Amino acid sequence: MCGIVGYIGKREASPILVEGLSKLEYRGYDSAGVAIIEKEDIKTTKCKGRLLNLQEKLEETPIKGNIGIGHTRWATHGEPSDRNSHPHSNEDETISVVHNGIIENYLHLREWLTSKGYKFVSETDTEVIPHLVNYYYKGDLLQAVMAATSKMEGSYAIGVVCSKEPDKIVAVRKDSPLIVGLGEDEYFIASDIPAVLNHTRDVYLLNDREYVLMTKDGVKLFNEEGEEVNKEIYHVTWNADAAEKGGYEHFMLKEIHEQPKAIKDTMTSRIIPGKSITLDEINITKEEIENINKIYIVACGTAYHAGIVGKYVIEKLARIPVEVDIASEFRYRNPIVDKNTLMIVISQSGETADTLAALREAKAQGARVIAVTNVVGSSVSREADDILYTWAGPEIAVASTKAYETQLIAMYIIGLFFAENKGTVSKDELEDLKNEMLSLPEKAEECLKHKEVVQKFASKTYMHKDMFFLGRGLDYAVAMEGSLKLKEISYIHSEAYAGGELKHGPIALIEKGTIVIALATQEDLFEKMVSNIKEVKTRGANVLALALEGHEEVEKTVDSAIYIPKVNPLFAPLLSVIPLQLYSYYSAVQKGCDVDKPRNLAKSVTVE
Ligand code: G6P
Repeated sequence: MCGIVGYIGKREASPILVEGLSKLEYRGYDSAGVAIIEKEDIKTTKCKGRLLNLQEKLEETPIKGNIGIGHTRWATHGEPSDRNSHPHSNEDETISVVHNGIIENYLHLREWLTSKGYKFVSETDTEVIPHLVNYYYKGDLLQAVMAATSKMEGSYAIGVVCSKEPDKIVAVRKDSPLIVGLGEDEYFIASDIPAVLNHTRDVYLLNDREYVLMTKDGVKLFNEEGEEVNKEIYHVTWNADAAEKGGYEHFMLKEIHEQPKAIKDTMTSRIIPGKSITLDEINITKEEIENINKIYIVACGTAYHAGIVGKYVIEKLARIPVEVDIASEFRYRNPIVDKNTLMIVISQSGETADTLAALREAKAQGARVIAVTNVVGSSVSREADDILYTWAGPEIAVASTKAYETQLIAMYIIGLFFAENKGTVSKDELEDLKNEMLSLPEKAEECLKHKEVVQKFASKTYMHKDMFFLGRGLDYAVAMEGSLKLKEISYIHSEAYAGGELKHGPIALIEKGTIVIALATQEDLFEKMVSNIKEVKTRGANVLALALEGHEEVEKTVDSAIYIPKVNPLFAPLLSVIPLQLYSYYSAVQKGCDVDKPRNLAKSVTVE
């Protein structure tokens, strides 16, 4: 969480830092700040609230200078306040630091520094960093940062400036993302690529414990032994407009509409009729696939819901037992893992702290790990044995939509790939499934057309405080995702239940007017789902049903219905989730919520 930026060059740093932060606001948005070297001094402006507040302050009192660092915060240690905002500095304000991550031993360091006479003004863990750097500073900022970080435990991406060496920025990462942007006679640091894309497409993707020394003349990288490191430049191929709203009112709406393309891009060159599935960055052999005795799919949030679909799909197609786990649970429950265990981690950002820790845990116990991620060079992609990139493009809205769709595609690809290798699906069936997959972008496009029905239903229901999502089989997995979306952005409490489980508790909560969204896309479970719908209708519920085209008879039982194009039920989640995403979106808009930046949430949770 939190986003950091830094700029060094010939231009005014302030607007560039603010613009960079605006691209990172998805990482946190409860306060923001910048520190810029003006002549020989560090000038800091920071405040609680959205970036706009900082912008206004900077307009009132501009800071002039070509070197600076900036931060957008998602509070962990210390409430959102001006005082706790970054940048933080040492006592005489000669050293200033922005930080993303958590310094786990900060209390110990704080006590130790206090005993040496250092004074603290905030409640943050970060404030120990400028004091530590100050403690070790003997005229060389890079050396001081190296010494300071050797004492720090936890995760960090930091940017440091020092008025005694006013021509430098020093930065380093450990378990929190950081990239370096390489412009023409100007250089950047940032937590994520979109922050620099308006200025350059050439970046360094830093590894843990790589130190950056930036001056106006260039960038040098060092390992923790202080040796210079040479690194390949990564050229970003997607455009800056991929991270802009492009005429949509919100990023979320834009990203929902980008789903057909995202699905298509993720299948391209992987699913080809008549050809076996080739996955460039998955090197697992046929023999290794045959030896897999168990798969763990581990993830958080929306990615976890994609994993639940993955379980159904992989078990059905490849007949390998799959367990799906929430990463924060997996890492502490001493799971049974051996060399024939395969772990699939799913993470849009590739930086989620719990997912990364689960990956490390499984690897330490001998499992092979496949990472399904949307971010090239992200931590999970570097640490996994194999990678399957989801080509969703940058996802900016905090609530995940197009990344989820592409994660589902990844699950289908892996399921089919294993099935092909194990021979658990006949050649003809495999071809049928591939052809069906290739028709999904067009069908997803059709689902976007339900906007009006969904909008109307949302306008009637957005004031409700509670709702239920019901489904069986794969529909249950989608119900969970629909429910999460609604909670995340419209703050309506909702629960997802397996249709068959209804009678074991939740039915007690159904009364006149209760909103129930019932998914009934699974042909073999359709009648059973209709029975569940009748059970809630009899008790007065107001039901919106989602069914496949051809099942219009459902209308006799429900209050509103949406039909998704006929598709093999295995692929229905990809389509049925779209009206649910739109429903949460329009409910949030009706309620006047901040759709792209829901309260208390952050897109990338890089702390435990
Ligand atoms: C946060 C985001 C969710 C996301 C989850 C997992 O909670 O708000 O949208 O699904 O993290 O993120 P990941 O990047 O690992 O997929």
